[in-house]
Amino acid sequence: MQFTRDIKMADVIHINYMLLTILKRFNIPLGFGDKTIEKVCRSHDVNTDFFLEIINSFHDKSYFPEQNLKAFSLELIVKYLRNTHDYYMLEKIPEIEGYIEELIQNCVTENKPNLSMLKKFFTDYKQELNEHIKKEDEMVLPYVLEIDKAYKNNTIDKPLYDKIKNYSINDYEDEHENVEDKLFDLKNIIIKYLPPLQNKNLCNTILIELFLLERDLNDHSRIEDTVLVPKVDQMEQELTKMYESDQG
Ligand SMILES: [Fe+2]
Ligand SMILES: [Fe+2]
Repeated sequence: MQFTRDIKMADVIHINYMLLTILKRFNIPLGFGDKTIEKVCRSHDVNTDFFLEIINSFHDKSYFPEQNLKAFSLELIVKYLRNTHDYYMLEKIPEIEGYIEELIQNCVTENKPNLSMLKKFFTDYKQELNEHIKKEDEMVLPYVLEIDKAYKNNTIDKPLYDKIKNYSINDYEDEHENVEDKLFDLKNIIIKYLPPLQNKNLCNTILIELFLLERDLNDHSRIEDTVLVPKVDQMEQELTKMYESDQG
């Protein structure tokens, strides 16, 4: 099914509670009574169409309206991506890290080496994800907004032209694979190699959190790779063409 603007926001959560985290990224708190998606979005200054495309593509993997998503402004897309980064680094990763710490503190001595290995894998993963996100926040997304501004103003100067020639948005594609591979390894350690621990519930909680994170990250990367990158790529092409024809 697809969510439409006249569906009650409460029903969205009843149908798919995983969308709770998406609501948070749009700064939409709970307590919406019987208000529709449209009403709730309006009262929180959220673009309803964009919200619908985001929740629908998250809810149904086979629904991915690339063209619709590309039609939204880069400012809107960048803001959503940044909020998602904060969710990973400020909430989800520390939360999982806390669970792993708890597991280590409460384990018997013979399990300590295995859990240290788990912790090491997690720390490596966290570092890799952090570097990836830091690069996006500090380099890629500001560059995207710079391109967007030039495109809107229909003007390109020499420094920006040189920048596009030295670094194009396509250089940043494919970087998602490494991050995904590391997360897969991490899950596998728990599923395949960790001997049974006393605290099975906590172990399962960590595993479930890793699966949820993976799903979320896949959705996030898909927006970056198939919406953000091609949109910026096209702008880069038009801008460089404009600059070159002005020069000669
Ligand atoms: Fe990202
Ligand atoms: Fe990314």
